[in-house]
Amino acid sequence: MSAKTLRVALTACAICVAAPAALAADDNPIEARKGFFQGIKMHMGPMVAVAKGQMDYSDDTRNHAAGMLAFANMTAAMFPAGSGEGDTGTKPEVWSDADGFAKAVAAFRDAAAKLAAADEFAFAPAVMALGKTCKGCHDDYREKH
Ligand code: HEC
Repeated sequence: MSAKTLRVALTACAICVAAPAALAADDNPIEARKGFFQGIKMHMGPMVAVAKGQMDYSDDTRNHAAGMLAFANMTAAMFPAGSGEGDTGTKPEVWSDADGFAKAVAAFRDAAAKLAAADEFAFAPAVMALGKTCKGCHDDYREKH
């Protein structure tokens, strides 16, 4: 990689790292968080369809897995202090049980990393394992909906 390509890559990466902080610092962190989870859902749908054999595994599938990992890495930043008040489905335990919540975030990140590294044959079980981490966190930290 030439120095110039590297510089371009690093600049692009600095932007992608800065974006979630900007999102989280948004005037309305609750709306930012809901949009964030809608993005997660957008990646999850096609991957579940592939895991169920309803869609073919393709380059798009890999892009969704990479996208999911990027989202997973931003999750903690989407829960700034004070964003549990208002029109939100978060439970107070997100902040009162911060250690437990951090574990749920870590489980999500680990499962997303395994999914991003999975080949076509390991893909379906990796999607199911990821889905369990969504449900695990929702059971404990999201209001029933
Ligand atoms: C670490 C905890 C955690 C993990 C992991 C997690 N979620 Fe959530 N999710 C939440 C919480 C808390 C909310 C409520 C956010 C709010 O209303 O402010 C939420 C909300 C949502 C919403 C509703 C967003 C809206 O428009 O109101 C969707 C959809 C969603 N999650 C999908 C998923 C999927 C799919 C996964 C796994 C791929 C996942 N979540 C993983 C905690 C989590």
